[in-house]
Amino acid sequence: MVKNSLTHPLHSYPARMHPATARALVQLCFDTESVQPRVVLDPFCGSGTTLVEGRAAGLNVIGTDLNPLAVRIARAKTWSCPKKRLTAFERLGAQISAAAIEEGKAARRADYKPKPIRVPKGINPAERDEEIASWYSPHVRRELEFIAAAIDEYREEDEQMADLLSVCLSSILIKTSKRSSDTSPKEIRRNIARGAPGRWFGERVQLMVQGLVDLHREGAKGEVTVLERDARKLLGPGGIAPESVGAIISSPPYIGTYDYVDHHRLRLAFLGMPYDDFERKEIGARRRFKGRAHQAAIKAIDDFKECLKSFDEVLVPGGLMALMVGDSVAGVEPVWADGVLREISADRFDVLGWVSQERDKLGSLEKRAFGEYPKREHVLLLEKKSKS
Ligand SMILES: C[S@@+](CC[C@H](N)C(=O)[O-])C[C@H]1O[C@@H](n2cnc3c(N)ncnc32)[C@H](O)[C@@H]1O
Repeated sequence: MVKNSLTHPLHSYPARMHPATARALVQLCFDTESVQPRVVLDPFCGSGTTLVEGRAAGLNVIGTDLNPLAVRIARAKTWSCPKKRLTAFERLGAQISAAAIEEGKAARRADYKPKPIRVPKGINPAERDEEIASWYSPHVRRELEFIAAAIDEYREEDEQMADLLSVCLSSILIKTSKRSSDTSPKEIRRNIARGAPGRWFGERVQLMVQGLVDLHREGAKGEVTVLERDARKLLGPGGIAPESVGAIISSPPYIGTYDYVDHHRLRLAFLGMPYDDFERKEIGARRRFKGRAHQAAIKAIDDFKECLKSFDEVLVPGGLMALMVGDSVAGVEPVWADGVLREISADRFDVLGWVSQERDKLGSLEKRAFGEYPKREHVLLLEKKSKS
């Protein structure tokens, strides 16, 4: 199954694109060798689903996202790992996993003295503790912090390797916690055995290695660029060159639906990753709709207009753009995402085609807002207009 293939299963991500959809869109946009340049861009790359599929198809891939965790995950899933580095990564991951399992066992002994809790650089320890403490049983937190400290130690020597290992750690931070999921802060009971965090971390390292090996076997040979960057400003220093992208395949945030800062606050705090810039600039986040939904919706639509301008600047003339968008509720009003996209893209892009699929209305708010009309997700295929 596409979903469980390659590096797709490494890390969960809210509103992740289905890997089979990404694969179909890559095939659609790069259907012949005449589509040039062989570069696919996902400007809201999230966990990198499009990028993984782009790599599997032998393309050069570029991803941008403002969520620093997304950037780390997408880089890990698309790593162009030289063989020696992959072996070193696997060895190091196995060592840390074994040491963490040992630490779990040692904690049962009467003479065990826990190490002081780690303090990541550049982060206020009290604020971090406040975000984390209530979500973990003490023994689980100790074992997770042990893994994090081992990764930190390695960071001085090899930052890339530390980032890659931290993605494997991040991938187990919810299943070891009392938090129900990224998107639900409901507290639930999970009995986590001593040593389980170390074991699960080791399994994630293995999963990543196997996924990368498969990705290379599949034909990944192109260049990978993943930038922490605002989708509204893709051009400019350190950014993407004008008209250098063959096609854009992406799933922008659904207006007023998700709140990635909130969904990832626990993981970001645990890993010690600052996210102030992301908090200020995240587009369409649900937190902005509380009490002033109308203004927030107007702002989100203006933000998307800026994005479309930015996409137009980097896309080759006549290039294709496949965008997946979802109907949502802004405050109490329905947002018909396909209609909005058609309207705001009309001056720069022609619509070539679209598909829509009905989705369940969740909760009374959505039922009331959509009324008798269906709530749907859409993929629109657009073509950049030639300048007249
Ligand atoms: C629907 S998700 C993309 C999920 C992705 N397709 C995947 O499969 O994982 C939308 C993404 O937009 C990102 N985002 C929000 N505001 C942004 C901005 N101003 N610039 C770049 N990315 C942004 C969020 O961090 C989130 O990762």
